[in-house]
Amino acid sequence: MNTIGVLTSGGDAPGMNAAIRAVVRMGRNLGLKVMGIRRGYNGLINGEISEMDRSSVADIIQRGGTILHTARCEEFKTEEGVNKAVNIIKVFGIEGLVVIGGDGSFMGARALCEKGLPSVGVPGTIDNDLAYTDYTIGFDTAINTVLDAINKLRDTSTSHERVSIVEVMGRHCGDLALYAGIAGGGESIIVPEVEFNVDDVCKTILEGKLRGKHHNIIIIAEGVGHANELSSAIKNITGLDTRVTILGHIQRGGSPTAFDRILASRLGARAVELLYDEKGSRVVGVKGNDVIDADINEALKMKKDIDHDLLKLARVLSK
Ligand code: F6P
Repeated sequence: MNTIGVLTSGGDAPGMNAAIRAVVRMGRNLGLKVMGIRRGYNGLINGEISEMDRSSVADIIQRGGTILHTARCEEFKTEEGVNKAVNIIKVFGIEGLVVIGGDGSFMGARALCEKGLPSVGVPGTIDNDLAYTDYTIGFDTAINTVLDAINKLRDTSTSHERVSIVEVMGRHCGDLALYAGIAGGGESIIVPEVEFNVDDVCKTILEGKLRGKHHNIIIIAEGVGHANELSSAIKNITGLDTRVTILGHIQRGGSPTAFDRILASRLGARAVELLYDEKGSRVVGVKGNDVIDADINEALKMKKDIDHDLLKLARVLSK
């Protein structure tokens, strides 16, 4: 293999730049030509491709977002779109591809593998919703962003003795709510994987009040929805004043934490090594402290579940 490509796709995540840097520098280290593809699969279809050298990734390890830009590409979900991309790949002489993104991006990588282009997926999403890996790039930074918000909300929630409902990202996966909730000492954590009951939430709030608590932080994952309705229900049942804060896209930005930079560096480098060894149709990840790789089909089949023990622990510790 002489030439590889790299793209970022789907929602951005802090640490994607560190992963691009690792891909380019490891690629150059192995004597490979590295082509940067801009705007995800859109750029692949449109030929927005140029060579990257060591200096093109200087001064980016600390930056959030992705210097290659990203997109969600509907056209690439069609056979015609994939065929267009395959033609462009030939024009640019790309023989292997690193795709940095989440499950949707990995499906695109799988489609290219099926067309004969060895591709390796690097997990980049703040959702941490990929079952084959313990952590995805960007998750740790997002937890810390949420935590910073919770700390601030706790101040004002305490002053006003209000219930603060914080909606965090996570379409189908409650990991961000769970981890930020534990780290932030949230009173209730509501995730899409587990049914919740408004009465239980209110009971926790009222018991806390009896013990002299002046604040209440409820963290709810976006995938559960209805944060405003929950707020009204809590107000009606408990008589306490409530406020909703939807954190939104600030969770996707910011300088990546050391954890995410190191994870991205390790995973980006391993992805290139796999391609160099002629191993495509893989995804890379981390289990414990080990970098692992897995078959892309197997990885996509795996169903992610919430860590129920951690959720139970959060309940015990918040009382
Ligand atoms: O998948 C990452 C994610 O941030 C989800 O948590 C969120 O639901 C979604 O992307 C938002 O996507 P967009 O940036 O397209 O609005």
